[in-house]
Amino acid sequence: MATEHFTTEEGAQGTSGSFGLLVRYLRHVPVLRLLIIPTLLMAAVVAGAYQLFIWLSGEIAKCSSEHSCAPREIVLGLSLEPSLALLCALAAFVTLLKALQWNLFETVGQVASRGLLREMLQGVARTRTTFFDEYPSGKIINRLVKDSDSLRLFGPIRLGDSMAGIVELIVVSVMMSFASAAAALLSVPTFIFFLWLQRNIAPMLQKTLVLRSARFGEVLHRETDVIEGVRSFVLYGQLSALMERLASSVYRFMQMHFLRGGIEAWGRCLTEIAVAVHSSAVLGAVYVGIHYGHVTPVVGVVIITGSFRLGTIFSWLTWSFGLLFETAGHCRRVFEYVDLPIEEAEEGNTPVPCSAAPGALEGDLQFVGYTMSYRDATPTILDDLSLTIARGSKVGLVGRTGAGKSSLVQSLFRMVHVKSGDIRVGAASLLAMPLDSARSLFAVVPQDPYLFEGTIRSNIDRLGEFTDGEITEALRAVQLPLDTSMALREGGTNLSLGQRQLLCLARVMLTKRPFVIMDEPTSGVDTITDAIMQSVLRTALHGRTIITIAHRLETLSRMDRVIELEDGRVVRDGTPAEILKDLTPAELA
Ligand SMILES: Nc1ncnc2c1ncn2[C@@H]1O[C@H](COP(=O)(O)OP(=O)(O)O)[C@@H](O)[C@H]1O
Ligand SMILES: [Mg+2]
Repeated sequence: MATEHFTTEEGAQGTSGSFGLLVRYLRHVPVLRLLIIPTLLMAAVVAGAYQLFIWLSGEIAKCSSEHSCAPREIVLGLSLEPSLALLCALAAFVTLLKALQWNLFETVGQVASRGLLREMLQGVARTRTTFFDEYPSGKIINRLVKDSDSLRLFGPIRLGDSMAGIVELIVVSVMMSFASAAAALLSVPTFIFFLWLQRNIAPMLQKTLVLRSARFGEVLHRETDVIEGVRSFVLYGQLSALMERLASSVYRFMQMHFLRGGIEAWGRCLTEIAVAVHSSAVLGAVYVGIHYGHVTPVVGVVIITGSFRLGTIFSWLTWSFGLLFETAGHCRRVFEYVDLPIEEAEEGNTPVPCSAAPGALEGDLQFVGYTMSYRDATPTILDDLSLTIARGSKVGLVGRTGAGKSSLVQSLFRMVHVKSGDIRVGAASLLAMPLDSARSLFAVVPQDPYLFEGTIRSNIDRLGEFTDGEITEALRAVQLPLDTSMALREGGTNLSLGQRQLLCLARVMLTKRPFVIMDEPTSGVDTITDAIMQSVLRTALHGRTIITIAHRLETLSRMDRVIELEDGRVVRDGTPAEILKDLTPAELA
Protein backbone atom coordinates (compact mmCIF):
# COMPACT_ATOMS: atom_id res chain seq x y z
CA MET A 1 0.00 0.00 0.00
CA ALA A 2 2.70 2.42 1.06
CA THR A 3 4.80 1.44 -1.94
CA GLU A 4 1.86 2.08 -4.28
CA HIS A 5 1.43 5.53 -2.79
CA PHE A 6 5.10 6.37 -3.21
CA THR A 7 5.26 4.79 -6.65
CA THR A 8 2.40 6.92 -7.93
CA GLU A 9 4.06 10.00 -6.53
CA GLU A 10 7.36 9.13 -8.13
CA GLY A 11 5.58 8.61 -11.46
CA ALA A 12 6.14 4.92 -12.21
CA GLN A 13 3.85 5.27 -15.21
CA GLY A 14 6.47 7.17 -17.17
CA THR A 15 8.68 4.19 -17.95
CA SER A 16 8.48 4.46 -21.71
CA GLY A 17 10.11 6.87 -24.08
CA SER A 18 13.70 6.80 -22.74
CA PHE A 19 14.96 7.45 -26.24
CA GLY A 20 12.56 10.38 -26.73
CA LEU A 21 13.64 11.85 -23.41
CA LEU A 22 17.31 11.64 -24.32
CA VAL A 23 16.65 13.21 -27.71
CA ARG A 24 14.78 16.01 -25.94
CA TYR A 25 17.68 16.44 -23.51
CA LEU A 26 20.09 16.73 -26.45
CA ARG A 27 17.88 19.18 -28.32
CA HIS A 28 16.97 21.18 -25.25
CA VAL A 29 20.55 21.77 -24.17
CA PRO A 30 22.48 22.83 -27.32
CA VAL A 31 25.85 22.72 -25.54
CA LEU A 32 25.53 18.91 -25.39
CA ARG A 33 26.12 18.84 -29.13
CA LEU A 34 29.76 19.63 -28.42
CA LEU A 35 30.10 16.05 -27.22
CA ILE A 36 30.05 14.90 -30.82
CA ILE A 37 33.47 16.56 -31.44
CA PRO A 38 35.61 14.23 -29.26
CA THR A 39 33.43 11.33 -30.37
CA LEU A 40 34.18 11.97 -34.04
CA LEU A 41 37.85 12.65 -33.34
CA MET A 42 38.07 9.37 -31.47
CA ALA A 43 36.30 7.59 -34.33
CA ALA A 44 38.84 9.03 -36.77
CA VAL A 45 41.68 7.81 -34.55
CA VAL A 46 40.15 4.32 -34.30
CA ALA A 47 39.66 4.18 -38.08
CA GLY A 48 43.23 5.44 -38.68
CA ALA A 49 44.73 2.98 -36.22
CA TYR A 50 42.75 0.14 -37.75
CA GLN A 51 43.90 1.07 -41.24
CA LEU A 52 47.49 1.38 -40.05
CA PHE A 53 47.23 -1.97 -38.34
CA ILE A 54 46.00 -3.62 -41.56
CA TRP A 55 48.85 -2.04 -43.49
CA LEU A 56 51.43 -3.03 -40.89
CA SER A 57 50.18 -6.63 -40.85
CA GLY A 58 50.47 -6.71 -44.63
CA GLU A 59 54.02 -5.32 -44.53
CA ILE A 60 55.12 -7.78 -41.88
CA ALA A 61 53.55 -10.64 -43.81
CA LYS A 62 55.33 -9.46 -47.00
CA CYS A 63 58.67 -9.35 -45.17
CA SER A 64 58.17 -12.86 -43.82
CA SER A 65 56.95 -14.45 -47.07
CA GLU A 66 59.58 -12.80 -49.30
CA HIS A 67 62.28 -13.32 -46.65
CA SER A 68 63.39 -9.84 -47.64
CA CYS A 69 63.93 -8.63 -44.14
CA ALA A 70 65.07 -10.33 -40.99
CA PRO A 71 62.65 -10.27 -38.01
CA ARG A 72 64.75 -7.66 -36.14
CA GLU A 73 64.76 -5.35 -39.11
CA ILE A 74 60.99 -5.66 -39.43
CA VAL A 75 60.55 -4.00 -36.11
CA LEU A 76 63.39 -1.54 -36.32
CA GLY A 77 63.72 -1.24 -40.08
CA LEU A 78 63.28 2.12 -41.77
CA SER A 79 60.10 1.29 -43.67
CA LEU A 80 58.23 0.34 -40.52
CA GLU A 81 59.63 2.93 -38.20
CA PRO A 82 57.42 5.85 -39.26
CA SER A 83 54.29 3.69 -38.90
CA LEU A 84 55.29 2.59 -35.44
CA ALA A 85 56.00 6.20 -34.54
CA LEU A 86 52.59 7.12 -35.89
CA LEU A 87 50.98 4.40 -33.78
CA CYS A 88 52.73 5.78 -30.70
CA ALA A 89 51.60 9.31 -31.62
CA LEU A 90 48.03 8.06 -32.02
CA ALA A 91 48.19 6.42 -28.60
CA ALA A 92 49.40 9.69 -27.07
CA PHE A 93 46.67 11.57 -28.92
CA VAL A 94 44.02 9.16 -27.60
CA THR A 95 45.24 9.75 -24.04
CA LEU A 96 45.12 13.50 -24.53
CA LEU A 97 41.71 13.27 -26.17
CA LYS A 98 40.39 11.23 -23.24
CA ALA A 99 41.60 13.89 -20.80
CA LEU A 100 39.99 16.63 -22.88
CA GLN A 101 36.81 14.57 -23.18
CA TRP A 102 36.44 14.27 -19.39
CA ASN A 103 37.03 17.98 -19.06
CA LEU A 104 34.40 18.63 -21.68
CA PHE A 105 31.92 16.31 -19.90
CA GLU A 106 32.39 18.27 -16.70
CA THR A 107 32.10 21.70 -18.35
CA VAL A 108 29.15 20.74 -20.54
CA GLY A 109 27.47 19.18 -17.49
CA GLN A 110 27.89 22.41 -15.54
CA VAL A 111 26.56 24.63 -18.31
CA ALA A 112 23.69 22.27 -19.14
CA SER A 113 22.60 21.83 -15.54
CA ARG A 114 22.72 25.52 -14.75
CA GLY A 115 20.24 26.25 -17.53
CA LEU A 116 18.01 23.30 -16.66
CA LEU A 117 18.00 24.13 -12.97
CA ARG A 118 16.95 27.68 -13.82
CA GLU A 119 14.13 26.36 -15.98
CA MET A 120 13.03 23.93 -13.25
CA LEU A 121 12.93 26.74 -10.70
CA GLN A 122 10.99 28.94 -13.11
CA GLY A 123 8.56 26.05 -13.70
CA VAL A 124 7.99 25.66 -9.96
CA ALA A 125 7.81 29.41 -9.36
CA ARG A 126 5.23 30.01 -12.07
CA THR A 127 2.96 27.08 -11.36
CA ARG A 128 -0.19 27.14 -9.23
CA THR A 129 0.40 27.61 -5.51
CA THR A 130 -1.67 24.52 -4.60
CA PHE A 131 1.23 22.53 -6.09
CA PHE A 132 3.06 23.20 -2.81
CA ASP A 133 0.14 21.81 -0.80
CA GLU A 134 0.09 18.63 -2.84
CA TYR A 135 3.82 17.89 -2.87
CA PRO A 136 5.85 17.90 0.34
CA SER A 137 8.74 20.35 0.21
CA GLY A 138 11.22 17.48 0.76
CA LYS A 139 10.14 15.90 -2.52
CA ILE A 140 10.36 19.17 -4.41
CA ILE A 141 13.82 19.91 -3.05
CA ASN A 142 14.90 16.34 -3.76
CA ARG A 143 14.13 16.87 -7.43
CA LEU A 144 15.62 20.31 -7.63
CA VAL A 145 18.82 19.16 -5.99
CA LYS A 146 19.29 15.43 -6.55
CA ASP A 147 17.89 14.88 -10.01
CA SER A 148 19.41 17.98 -11.52
CA ASP A 149 22.74 17.19 -9.88
CA SER A 150 22.71 13.58 -11.12
CA LEU A 151 22.03 14.94 -14.58
CA ARG A 152 24.92 17.39 -14.23
CA LEU A 153 27.33 14.71 -13.07
CA PHE A 154 26.33 11.80 -15.28
CA GLY A 155 24.21 13.09 -18.17
CA PRO A 156 27.01 14.24 -20.51
CA ILE A 157 29.36 11.38 -19.53
CA ARG A 158 26.78 8.71 -20.23
CA LEU A 159 25.62 10.35 -23.43
CA GLY A 160 29.21 10.85 -24.57
CA ASP A 161 30.24 7.30 -23.69
CA SER A 162 27.25 5.76 -25.44
CA MET A 163 27.74 7.97 -28.50
CA ALA A 164 31.42 6.99 -28.62
CA GLY A 165 30.46 3.30 -28.35
CA ILE A 166 27.96 3.57 -31.20
CA VAL A 167 30.37 5.48 -33.44
CA GLU A 168 33.15 2.99 -32.74
CA LEU A 169 30.78 0.13 -33.54
CA ILE A 170 30.03 1.71 -36.91
CA VAL A 171 33.70 2.46 -37.64
CA VAL A 172 34.91 -1.07 -36.79
CA SER A 173 32.06 -2.64 -38.82
CA VAL A 174 32.91 -0.47 -41.83
CA MET A 175 36.64 -1.24 -41.52
CA MET A 176 35.86 -4.93 -41.22
CA SER A 177 33.65 -4.78 -44.28
CA PHE A 178 36.66 -3.46 -46.26
CA ALA A 179 38.58 -6.56 -45.20
CA SER A 180 35.67 -8.94 -45.73
CA ALA A 181 32.05 -8.06 -46.48
CA ALA A 182 30.94 -11.54 -45.36
CA ALA A 183 32.55 -11.11 -41.92
CA ALA A 184 30.93 -7.69 -41.52
CA LEU A 185 27.57 -9.18 -42.48
CA LEU A 186 27.97 -11.75 -39.72
CA SER A 187 27.79 -8.95 -37.14
CA VAL A 188 24.33 -7.86 -38.38
CA PRO A 189 22.37 -10.56 -36.44
CA THR A 190 24.40 -9.75 -33.31
CA PHE A 191 23.54 -6.09 -33.77
CA ILE A 192 19.81 -6.85 -34.21
CA PHE A 193 19.86 -9.11 -31.13
CA PHE A 194 21.60 -6.38 -29.16
CA LEU A 195 18.95 -3.78 -30.12
CA TRP A 196 16.13 -6.20 -29.28
CA LEU A 197 17.72 -6.87 -25.88
CA GLN A 198 18.07 -3.17 -25.11
CA ARG A 199 14.46 -2.48 -26.12
CA ASN A 200 13.29 -5.08 -23.63
CA ILE A 201 15.68 -4.22 -20.86
CA ALA A 202 15.14 -0.44 -20.97
CA PRO A 203 11.58 -0.40 -19.52
CA MET A 204 12.52 -3.01 -16.91
CA LEU A 205 15.48 -0.96 -15.75
CA GLN A 206 13.45 2.24 -15.62
CA LYS A 207 10.65 0.55 -13.70
CA THR A 208 13.05 -0.84 -11.13
CA LEU A 209 14.67 2.57 -10.89
CA VAL A 210 11.32 4.17 -10.05
CA LEU A 211 10.43 1.40 -7.59
CA ARG A 212 13.83 1.74 -6.01
CA SER A 213 13.34 5.46 -5.40
CA ALA A 214 9.82 4.75 -4.11
CA ARG A 215 11.19 2.22 -1.64
CA PHE A 216 13.96 4.59 -0.70
CA GLY A 217 11.22 7.11 0.13
CA GLU A 218 9.66 4.45 2.36
CA VAL A 219 12.97 3.93 4.17
CA LEU A 220 13.21 7.69 4.77
CA HIS A 221 9.66 7.65 6.11
CA ARG A 222 10.49 4.84 8.51
CA GLU A 223 13.57 6.70 9.66
CA THR A 224 11.35 9.68 10.40
CA ASP A 225 9.13 7.30 12.45
CA VAL A 226 12.18 6.33 14.46
CA ILE A 227 13.23 9.92 15.05
CA GLU A 228 9.79 11.41 15.66
CA GLY A 229 7.85 8.52 17.14
CA VAL A 230 10.36 6.60 19.18
CA ARG A 231 8.93 7.88 22.48
CA SER A 232 5.43 6.59 21.73
CA PHE A 233 6.80 3.23 20.61
CA VAL A 234 8.90 2.92 23.79
CA LEU A 235 5.91 3.94 25.92
CA TYR A 236 3.76 1.17 24.45
CA GLY A 237 6.63 -1.40 24.50
CA GLN A 238 6.63 -1.59 20.70
CA LEU A 239 10.26 -0.69 19.99
CA SER A 240 11.06 -4.06 18.41
CA ALA A 241 8.03 -3.66 16.10
CA LEU A 242 9.37 -0.25 15.04
CA MET A 243 12.80 -1.73 14.30
CA GLU A 244 11.23 -4.59 12.35
CA ARG A 245 9.30 -2.10 10.23
CA LEU A 246 12.47 -0.18 9.52
CA ALA A 247 14.41 -3.38 8.74
CA SER A 248 11.69 -4.64 6.41
CA SER A 249 11.57 -1.40 4.44
CA VAL A 250 15.38 -1.42 4.14
CA TYR A 251 15.13 -5.04 2.98
CA ARG A 252 12.48 -4.14 0.40
CA PHE A 253 14.69 -1.32 -0.86
CA MET A 254 17.69 -3.65 -1.13
CA GLN A 255 15.50 -6.22 -2.91
CA MET A 256 14.80 -3.67 -5.63
CA HIS A 257 18.48 -2.81 -5.75
CA PHE A 258 19.37 -6.46 -6.30
CA LEU A 259 16.59 -6.88 -8.85
CA ARG A 260 18.03 -4.03 -10.85
CA GLY A 261 21.53 -5.52 -10.56
CA GLY A 262 20.10 -8.89 -11.65
CA ILE A 263 18.46 -7.43 -14.75
CA GLU A 264 21.69 -5.67 -15.69
CA ALA A 265 23.72 -8.83 -15.12
CA TRP A 266 21.30 -10.85 -17.28
CA GLY A 267 21.54 -8.25 -20.03
CA ARG A 268 25.33 -8.43 -19.96
CA CYS A 269 25.30 -12.22 -19.81
CA LEU A 270 23.00 -12.47 -22.87
CA THR A 271 25.19 -9.96 -24.73
CA GLU A 272 28.31 -12.00 -23.89
CA ILE A 273 26.64 -15.16 -25.20
CA ALA A 274 25.63 -13.38 -28.42
CA VAL A 275 29.16 -11.99 -28.78
CA ALA A 276 30.69 -15.45 -28.19
CA VAL A 277 28.40 -16.98 -30.83
CA HIS A 278 29.32 -14.17 -33.22
CA SER A 279 33.07 -14.60 -32.63
CA SER A 280 32.83 -18.38 -33.14
CA ALA A 281 30.95 -17.84 -36.39
CA VAL A 282 33.61 -15.35 -37.57
CA LEU A 283 36.42 -17.72 -36.55
CA GLY A 284 34.71 -20.56 -38.42
CA ALA A 285 34.22 -18.38 -41.50
CA VAL A 286 37.86 -17.24 -41.42
CA TYR A 287 39.05 -20.83 -41.04
CA VAL A 288 36.98 -21.97 -44.04
CA GLY A 289 38.06 -18.89 -46.03
CA ILE A 290 41.77 -19.56 -45.41
CA HIS A 291 41.30 -23.27 -46.09
CA TYR A 292 39.79 -22.60 -49.53
CA GLY A 293 42.20 -19.74 -50.23
CA HIS A 294 39.51 -16.97 -50.35
CA VAL A 295 41.04 -15.18 -47.39
CA THR A 296 44.73 -14.49 -46.83
CA PRO A 297 46.07 -15.10 -43.32
CA VAL A 298 46.71 -11.37 -42.89
CA VAL A 299 43.09 -10.48 -43.68
CA GLY A 300 42.05 -13.36 -41.42
CA VAL A 301 43.96 -11.80 -38.53
CA VAL A 302 42.40 -8.41 -39.27
CA ILE A 303 38.88 -9.89 -39.30
CA ILE A 304 39.42 -11.81 -36.06
CA THR A 305 40.86 -8.74 -34.31
CA GLY A 306 37.90 -6.66 -35.51
CA SER A 307 35.38 -9.24 -34.37
CA PHE A 308 36.92 -9.36 -30.87
CA ARG A 309 36.84 -5.58 -30.79
CA LEU A 310 33.14 -5.68 -31.72
CA GLY A 311 32.52 -8.06 -28.82
CA THR A 312 34.12 -5.61 -26.38
CA ILE A 313 32.08 -2.73 -27.83
CA PHE A 314 28.79 -4.64 -27.48
CA SER A 315 29.56 -5.48 -23.83
CA TRP A 316 30.54 -1.88 -23.19
CA LEU A 317 27.36 -0.58 -24.83
CA THR A 318 25.17 -2.90 -22.74
CA TRP A 319 26.78 -1.40 -19.66
CA SER A 320 26.62 2.22 -20.79
CA PHE A 321 23.03 1.92 -22.11
CA GLY A 322 21.94 0.68 -18.67
CA LEU A 323 23.36 3.86 -17.17
CA LEU A 324 21.93 5.95 -19.98
CA PHE A 325 18.40 4.70 -19.21
CA GLU A 326 18.96 5.81 -15.64
CA THR A 327 19.89 9.25 -16.99
CA ALA A 328 16.67 9.20 -19.04
CA GLY A 329 14.83 8.69 -15.72
CA HIS A 330 16.48 11.80 -14.30
CA CYS A 331 15.62 13.68 -17.50
CA ARG A 332 11.96 12.71 -17.10
CA ARG A 333 11.86 14.01 -13.54
CA VAL A 334 13.67 17.23 -14.45
CA PHE A 335 11.47 17.92 -17.49
CA GLU A 336 8.33 17.29 -15.44
CA TYR A 337 9.25 20.39 -13.45
CA VAL A 338 10.39 22.36 -16.50
CA ASP A 339 6.99 21.61 -18.08
CA LEU A 340 4.83 22.47 -15.07
CA PRO A 341 1.87 24.44 -16.44
CA ILE A 342 1.89 28.14 -15.56
CA GLU A 343 -0.75 29.08 -13.01
CA GLU A 344 -2.91 31.07 -15.44
CA ALA A 345 -3.25 27.91 -17.55
CA GLU A 346 -4.91 26.09 -14.65
CA GLU A 347 -7.06 28.97 -13.51
CA GLY A 348 -10.11 27.86 -15.46
CA ASN A 349 -12.74 30.12 -17.00
CA THR A 350 -11.25 33.50 -17.68
CA PRO A 351 -14.01 35.96 -18.52
CA VAL A 352 -13.86 38.25 -21.52
CA PRO A 353 -11.87 41.33 -20.51
CA CYS A 354 -14.15 44.22 -19.69
CA SER A 355 -13.37 47.93 -19.58
CA ALA A 356 -10.15 48.81 -17.82
CA ALA A 357 -10.16 52.49 -18.70
CA PRO A 358 -8.43 54.96 -16.36
CA GLY A 359 -10.42 55.11 -13.17
CA ALA A 360 -12.07 51.76 -13.92
CA LEU A 361 -10.43 50.25 -10.82
CA GLU A 362 -11.93 52.90 -8.55
CA GLY A 363 -15.20 51.20 -7.65
CA ASP A 364 -16.38 48.38 -5.34
CA LEU A 365 -15.15 44.82 -5.10
CA GLN A 366 -17.75 42.46 -6.48
CA PHE A 367 -18.17 38.69 -6.70
CA VAL A 368 -20.60 37.92 -9.52
CA GLY A 369 -22.01 34.34 -9.60
CA TYR A 370 -18.53 33.22 -8.68
CA THR A 371 -17.93 29.46 -8.36
CA MET A 372 -14.52 27.93 -7.64
CA SER A 373 -12.66 24.78 -6.65
CA TYR A 374 -8.98 24.23 -5.93
CA ARG A 375 -8.29 22.09 -8.98
CA ASP A 376 -10.21 21.24 -12.09
CA ALA A 377 -11.34 17.88 -10.71
CA THR A 378 -11.82 18.72 -7.01
CA PRO A 379 -15.12 19.65 -5.30
CA THR A 380 -16.70 23.09 -5.63
CA ILE A 381 -15.94 25.27 -2.60
CA LEU A 382 -17.43 28.75 -3.18
CA ASP A 383 -20.69 28.19 -4.98
CA ASP A 384 -22.39 30.87 -7.07
CA LEU A 385 -21.20 33.60 -4.73
CA SER A 386 -22.58 37.09 -5.33
CA LEU A 387 -21.35 39.76 -3.00
CA THR A 388 -20.42 43.44 -3.15
CA ILE A 389 -17.88 44.95 -0.80
CA ALA A 390 -18.10 48.76 -0.84
CA ARG A 391 -14.90 50.63 -1.56
CA GLY A 392 -13.35 51.99 1.63
CA SER A 393 -15.46 49.83 3.95
CA LYS A 394 -14.32 47.49 6.71
CA VAL A 395 -15.79 44.00 6.36
CA GLY A 396 -15.48 41.08 8.76
CA LEU A 397 -15.73 37.52 7.43
CA VAL A 398 -16.96 34.82 9.80
CA GLY A 399 -18.02 31.20 9.58
CA ARG A 400 -17.19 27.77 10.94
CA THR A 401 -13.92 26.04 10.01
CA GLY A 402 -14.17 24.94 6.39
CA ALA A 403 -16.89 27.52 5.57
CA GLY A 404 -14.74 29.02 2.78
CA LYS A 405 -13.25 32.19 4.31
CA SER A 406 -9.66 31.42 3.26
CA SER A 407 -10.91 30.22 -0.13
CA LEU A 408 -12.54 33.62 -0.67
CA VAL A 409 -9.22 35.32 0.05
CA GLN A 410 -7.32 32.86 -2.18
CA SER A 411 -9.82 33.68 -4.93
CA LEU A 412 -8.89 37.36 -4.69
CA PHE A 413 -5.24 36.34 -5.14
CA ARG A 414 -6.25 34.17 -8.10
CA MET A 415 -4.72 31.04 -6.62
CA VAL A 416 -7.68 28.75 -7.34
CA HIS A 417 -9.57 27.17 -10.21
CA VAL A 418 -12.48 29.31 -11.44
CA LYS A 419 -15.52 27.34 -12.58
CA SER A 420 -17.76 30.25 -13.49
CA GLY A 421 -18.58 33.86 -12.67
CA ASP A 422 -16.33 36.83 -12.21
CA ILE A 423 -14.70 39.06 -9.61
CA ARG A 424 -14.79 42.76 -10.46
CA VAL A 425 -12.94 45.75 -9.12
CA GLY A 426 -14.94 48.77 -10.22
CA ALA A 427 -15.60 48.28 -13.90
CA ALA A 428 -12.68 45.93 -14.50
CA SER A 429 -12.62 42.17 -14.24
CA LEU A 430 -9.99 41.02 -11.76
CA LEU A 431 -9.81 37.68 -13.54
CA ALA A 432 -9.09 39.24 -16.92
CA MET A 433 -6.20 41.40 -15.72
CA PRO A 434 -2.56 40.34 -15.94
CA LEU A 435 -1.89 38.28 -12.82
CA ASP A 436 0.70 40.67 -11.40
CA SER A 437 -1.59 43.70 -11.77
CA ALA A 438 -4.45 41.81 -10.13
CA ARG A 439 -2.34 40.78 -7.16
CA SER A 440 -0.82 44.23 -6.77
CA LEU A 441 -4.24 45.54 -5.68
CA PHE A 442 -4.08 43.57 -2.44
CA ALA A 443 -1.93 43.77 0.67
CA VAL A 444 -2.07 41.09 3.32
CA VAL A 445 -1.45 40.59 7.00
CA PRO A 446 -1.33 36.77 7.35
CA GLN A 447 -2.48 34.82 10.38
CA ASP A 448 1.05 33.63 11.17
CA PRO A 449 3.46 35.84 9.20
CA TYR A 450 6.65 34.24 7.97
CA LEU A 451 9.64 36.57 7.89
CA PHE A 452 12.85 35.91 5.99
CA GLU A 453 16.34 35.84 7.40
CA GLY A 454 17.75 39.34 7.00
CA THR A 455 16.90 42.67 8.55
CA ILE A 456 13.66 44.44 9.39
CA ARG A 457 14.35 46.63 6.37
CA SER A 458 14.89 43.75 3.93
CA ASN A 459 11.62 42.20 5.10
CA ILE A 460 9.54 45.36 4.92
CA ASP A 461 11.01 46.63 1.68
CA ARG A 462 12.23 43.75 -0.46
CA LEU A 463 12.39 45.88 -3.60
CA GLY A 464 14.13 48.89 -2.03
CA GLU A 465 11.22 51.26 -2.72
CA PHE A 466 11.17 53.22 0.53
CA THR A 467 13.56 55.47 2.40
CA ASP A 468 14.79 54.69 5.91
CA GLY A 469 12.70 57.62 7.14
CA GLU A 470 9.49 56.21 5.64
CA ILE A 471 10.13 52.78 7.15
CA THR A 472 10.95 54.23 10.58
CA GLU A 473 7.78 56.33 10.39
CA ALA A 474 5.66 53.24 9.58
CA LEU A 475 7.29 51.30 12.44
CA ARG A 476 6.48 54.18 14.77
CA ALA A 477 2.86 54.18 13.60
CA VAL A 478 2.48 50.52 14.56
CA GLN A 479 4.37 51.23 17.82
CA LEU A 480 7.25 48.86 17.06
CA PRO A 481 10.35 50.59 18.40
CA LEU A 482 12.77 48.46 16.35
CA ASP A 483 15.78 49.53 14.35
CA THR A 484 15.47 48.96 10.59
CA SER A 485 18.85 47.17 10.63
CA MET A 486 17.83 44.70 13.34
CA ALA A 487 18.69 41.14 12.27
CA LEU A 488 15.81 38.69 11.88
CA ARG A 489 16.12 34.92 12.07
CA GLU A 490 14.61 32.65 9.41
CA GLY A 491 10.83 32.64 9.98
CA GLY A 492 11.14 35.72 12.18
CA THR A 493 11.45 33.53 15.25
CA ASN A 494 13.16 36.25 17.29
CA LEU A 495 9.93 38.30 17.23
CA SER A 496 6.61 37.45 18.87
CA LEU A 497 3.54 36.66 16.75
CA GLY A 498 2.07 40.05 17.62
CA GLN A 499 5.27 41.84 16.60
CA ARG A 500 5.39 39.95 13.32
CA GLN A 501 1.80 40.96 12.58
CA LEU A 502 2.54 44.59 13.39
CA LEU A 503 5.57 44.45 11.10
CA CYS A 504 3.31 43.20 8.31
CA LEU A 505 0.89 45.99 9.10
CA ALA A 506 3.72 48.51 8.72
CA ARG A 507 4.51 46.98 5.34
CA VAL A 508 0.84 47.21 4.35
CA MET A 509 0.83 50.89 5.32
CA LEU A 510 3.83 51.58 3.11
CA THR A 511 2.60 49.71 0.02
CA LYS A 512 -0.56 51.83 -0.36
CA ARG A 513 -2.47 49.00 -2.00
CA PRO A 514 -6.22 49.75 -2.01
CA PHE A 515 -7.43 46.41 -0.56
CA VAL A 516 -6.08 45.05 2.72
CA ILE A 517 -6.73 41.44 3.76
CA MET A 518 -6.21 40.62 7.40
CA ASP A 519 -6.29 37.11 8.77
CA GLU A 520 -6.74 37.53 12.47
CA PRO A 521 -4.89 35.04 14.66
CA THR A 522 -7.22 32.82 16.68
CA SER A 523 -4.96 33.27 19.69
CA GLY A 524 -1.52 34.50 20.64
CA VAL A 525 -2.06 38.24 20.17
CA ASP A 526 -2.31 40.33 23.31
CA THR A 527 -4.86 43.06 23.83
CA ILE A 528 -2.27 45.84 23.40
CA THR A 529 -1.27 44.58 19.95
CA ASP A 530 -4.92 44.24 19.08
CA ALA A 531 -5.60 47.82 20.18
CA ILE A 532 -2.66 49.08 18.08
CA MET A 533 -3.93 47.23 15.05
CA GLN A 534 -7.43 48.58 15.42
CA SER A 535 -6.12 52.11 15.80
CA VAL A 536 -3.95 51.77 12.66
CA LEU A 537 -7.01 50.53 10.77
CA ARG A 538 -8.91 53.62 11.80
CA THR A 539 -6.12 56.10 11.11
CA ALA A 540 -3.28 55.15 8.74
CA LEU A 541 -5.40 52.71 6.75
CA HIS A 542 -8.49 54.87 6.73
CA GLY A 543 -10.05 54.95 3.28
CA ARG A 544 -8.71 51.56 2.25
CA THR A 545 -11.00 48.56 1.87
CA ILE A 546 -10.31 46.15 4.74
CA ILE A 547 -11.42 42.51 4.68
CA THR A 548 -10.73 40.76 7.95
CA ILE A 549 -11.16 37.06 8.64
CA ALA A 550 -12.18 37.67 12.23
CA HIS A 551 -12.21 35.34 15.20
CA ARG A 552 -12.95 37.81 17.98
CA LEU A 553 -16.14 39.62 18.84
CA GLU A 554 -14.28 42.87 19.59
CA THR A 555 -12.79 42.92 16.10
CA LEU A 556 -16.16 42.27 14.50
CA SER A 557 -17.89 44.95 16.51
CA ARG A 558 -15.57 47.57 14.95
CA MET A 559 -16.40 46.54 11.37
CA ASP A 560 -18.87 48.34 9.10
CA ARG A 561 -20.32 45.06 8.01
CA VAL A 562 -20.12 41.34 8.88
CA ILE A 563 -20.56 38.52 6.36
CA GLU A 564 -21.10 34.95 7.51
CA LEU A 565 -20.20 32.08 5.20
CA GLU A 566 -21.36 28.48 5.38
CA ASP A 567 -20.47 25.77 2.87
CA GLY A 568 -19.16 28.34 0.44
CA ARG A 569 -22.29 30.52 0.48
CA VAL A 570 -23.26 33.74 2.25
CA VAL A 571 -25.76 32.85 4.98
CA ARG A 572 -25.90 36.17 6.82
CA ASP A 573 -24.86 39.68 5.87
CA GLY A 574 -25.45 42.81 7.92
CA THR A 575 -24.19 45.25 10.51
CA PRO A 576 -22.17 43.86 13.46
CA ALA A 577 -25.14 44.45 15.76
CA GLU A 578 -27.45 42.40 13.54
CA ILE A 579 -25.08 39.49 13.10
CA LEU A 580 -23.36 39.32 16.48
CA LYS A 581 -26.51 38.82 18.49
CA ASP A 582 -26.94 35.19 17.39
CA LEU A 583 -23.36 34.28 16.56
CA THR A 584 -22.14 31.09 18.30
CA PRO A 585 -18.46 30.59 19.32
CA ALA A 586 -18.08 27.86 16.62
CA GLU A 587 -18.95 30.39 13.94
CA LEU A 588 -15.93 32.42 14.99
CA ALA A 589 -13.59 29.53 14.15
N1 LIG B 1 -5.60 23.60 -1.00
C1 LIG B 1 -6.82 23.04 -0.94
N2 LIG B 1 -7.14 22.06 -1.82
C2 LIG B 1 -8.37 21.49 -1.78
N3 LIG B 1 -9.32 21.82 -0.92
C3 LIG B 1 -9.08 22.79 -0.02
C4 LIG B 1 -7.81 23.45 0.02
N4 LIG B 1 -7.86 24.38 1.01
C5 LIG B 1 -9.09 24.28 1.55
N5 LIG B 1 -9.82 23.33 0.95
C6 LIG B 1 -11.21 22.97 1.25
O1 LIG B 1 -12.01 24.10 1.04
C7 LIG B 1 -13.04 24.15 2.01
C8 LIG B 1 -13.05 25.52 2.63
O2 LIG B 1 -11.83 25.69 3.32
P1 LIG B 1 -11.31 27.10 3.84
O3 LIG B 1 -11.61 28.11 2.78
O4 LIG B 1 -9.92 26.94 4.27
O5 LIG B 1 -12.25 27.33 5.08
P2 LIG B 1 -12.09 28.33 6.30
O6 LIG B 1 -10.97 29.26 6.01
O7 LIG B 1 -13.42 29.00 6.37
O8 LIG B 1 -11.85 27.49 7.49
C9 LIG B 1 -12.77 23.03 3.01
O9 LIG B 1 -13.67 21.98 2.74
C10 LIG B 1 -11.36 22.61 2.71
O10 LIG B 1 -11.22 21.22 2.89
MG1 LIG C 1 -9.11 29.45 6.97
